Amino acid sequence: MGKSVVKRIGVLTGGGDAPGLNAVIRAVVKTAIREYGMNVVGFENGFGGLIKNQARELTEFDVIGILPRGGTILGTTNRDNPFHYPVIKGDKKIFADVSDRVFENISIHGIEALVVIGGDGSLAIGKELNDQGLKVVGVPKTIDNDLSATDQTFGFDTALATATEAIDKLHTTAESHHRVMVLELMGRYAGWIALAAGLAGGADVILIPEIPYNIDVVVEKINARSQERKKFSIVVVAEGAKPLGGEMVVSKHVEDSFDPVRLGGVGNVVAQAIESATDKETRVTVLGHLQRGGSPTAYDRILATRYGTGAVNLAAEGKFGRMVCLKGQNIESVPLEQAVGELHTVPVNGELIKVARQLGICLGD
Ligand code: F6P
Repeated sequence: MGKSVVKRIGVLTGGGDAPGLNAVIRAVVKTAIREYGMNVVGFENGFGGLIKNQARELTEFDVIGILPRGGTILGTTNRDNPFHYPVIKGDKKIFADVSDRVFENISIHGIEALVVIGGDGSLAIGKELNDQGLKVVGVPKTIDNDLSATDQTFGFDTALATATEAIDKLHTTAESHHRVMVLELMGRYAGWIALAAGLAGGADVILIPEIPYNIDVVVEKINARSQERKKFSIVVVAEGAKPLGGEMVVSKHVEDSFDPVRLGGVGNVVAQAIESATDKETRVTVLGHLQRGGSPTAYDRILATRYGTGAVNLAAEGKFGRMVCLKGQNIESVPLEQAVGELHTVPVNGELIKVARQLGICLGD
């Protein structure tokens, strides 16, 4: 059995779900128990469980069969920030720092270190708790792949596979009906899912937030394809894509969420503009939360498992305030402040963009 400076750890999943969360939980539980003889407590529904003391002991029995399952057996939320928590005062809702409740519950359960599996919002809360004395280890999760301190987040590969399959399926209708098929994909302020799926699925136009688009350039591309006897086009649009000099399309504001802005709707905007400027029938598909669902790919299962084991190893070694990350082929770690620093967006002069341009894919500029 390996040596560990802690004997009882907590784990929670925060923010939007992503394929591979259960694989991380499984690896955390198995490594903690088998390798270090630790006990593991799972907090339910993200930081909500820490605030409201909703927790349960996790044994190896609890993680049987969860490796291929999407979602998270612990539940999650992108609300319930303990430093900005809605409380009713009189007849008014105000936001208060309730982090003392977190420390109370941590001590009730005798937790010596906490594994936070989350994206930038959850990891930022994890960092703040760590700064206040809780020993935190982070695991980078998000389908958006937008964390700069790791080469890849788990969840991205599965979302990419789902998006690519969607493009393959849209191709058949596009070709049969000689239509333009527009596919809107997730990714928030980063175009990774759209760019990678567009390349993997053979899209003709890919619009991402990092490269503001000119709709005339898109229309030109579709008309040029018609003249080359290619009577259909596939247009992939990241939800954060925006026109030159314009803004992203916001679908709603979710009060109390770590990041209240929800993007969505740009697919329709682009499709309408294409249909009115060409003679092409155009249809829109918004893939939405299908990208977050389903069984993780083999790649994501392995990455998630390596992250889960790596996080427990960090805790055992007493390396707190850090997040596991992928650097090249290796699992390493970085301080949490680096993990929640800058967003990892698509480099506009990067190799993938160059490849797309060399293939003649229109990027809207
Ligand atoms: O961050 C993951 C993500 O799926 C984004 O791609 C998307 O913009 C957002 O979450 C959707 O959030 P919600 O599930 O709250 O609608």
